[in-house]
Amino acid sequence: MALGSILFRIVRIPKLRVRLWKLAYEIFPKLLPDANWWFMNYGYEPSDAERKEFGTLDESQFQWRSRAMYHYLTARSSPAGKDLLEVGSGRGGGLRHVASTMAPKSATGLDFARSAIDFCHRSHKGIPVTYLEGDSMNMPFEDLSFDLVLNVESCHAYLDQAKFIAEVRRVLRPGGRLYLVDVRSLENWVLLRQWILDEGFTVEEDADVTANVIAALELDEPEKREIIKKRVPFWLRAVFMEFAGSIGSQLHERLKNGEIQYRRMVAAKAA
Ligand SMILES: C[S@@+](CC[C@H](N)C(=O)[O-])C[C@H]1O[C@@H](n2cnc3c(N)ncnc32)[C@H](O)[C@@H]1O
Repeated sequence: MALGSILFRIVRIPKLRVRLWKLAYEIFPKLLPDANWWFMNYGYEPSDAERKEFGTLDESQFQWRSRAMYHYLTARSSPAGKDLLEVGSGRGGGLRHVASTMAPKSATGLDFARSAIDFCHRSHKGIPVTYLEGDSMNMPFEDLSFDLVLNVESCHAYLDQAKFIAEVRRVLRPGGRLYLVDVRSLENWVLLRQWILDEGFTVEEDADVTANVIAALELDEPEKREIIKKRVPFWLRAVFMEFAGSIGSQLHERLKNGEIQYRRMVAAKAA
């Protein structure tokens, strides 16, 4: 059986999935210690209309499409002057981009991978962002601490996503909003939407952005392939190609055939 199929079977067993992600997210920062490797999402190719509405990025920058995933999500949330939390902040580049360009009042990143938080402390010194180790399902924050919660390609990996949504509601102030992008089957999107509604949120946007992500994967393929070839030991390359969503990987195939969708959701807590 191909490696991709085996990984996809494992990720359907919740407890194994959580262990696999935890292991992967602890190991990745160690294998790729490069200070300029700030993102771990699949990337986002913005439309011309989005470029016009939310501005353009420097497209010569390393991983610019992963930065675009943050830019075109967060720019919609008018973050200036707001207390912002990102859950699953990874290598911290997304919050760094937002804090440096969108003037939030404060920016806090939470991630359960100690090695990712250590990476952020080493690589984003002097940037007004606080990076903390902690679990999305039991967040180390007082009630009503934030105006905005970002969640970028992370909550598919949580064992109890309903608990995560309850935590988001707890830490958000009245009128606060959750901005989320992620990938999963349509069936699992329906479940997530229901958990969001069950917590009393109003879903303000639920958009299929699969085409933007497929375009980013395909446009970034040559660069990613080259980096993996150079940096990853040969026995781990197939795993990395899967995680990177390379052309021909299960992720790429399933996005293309509609088995899984990449979506953006915006949910508002009652004012
Ligand atoms: C695909 S990475 C995305 C990282 C970052 N958002 C980005 O786009 O570059 C998913 C992140 O979610 C984090 N994560 C997974 N499960 C978590 C949990 N239960 N609590 C907090 N963070 C978690 C992982 O450690 C990882 O850094």
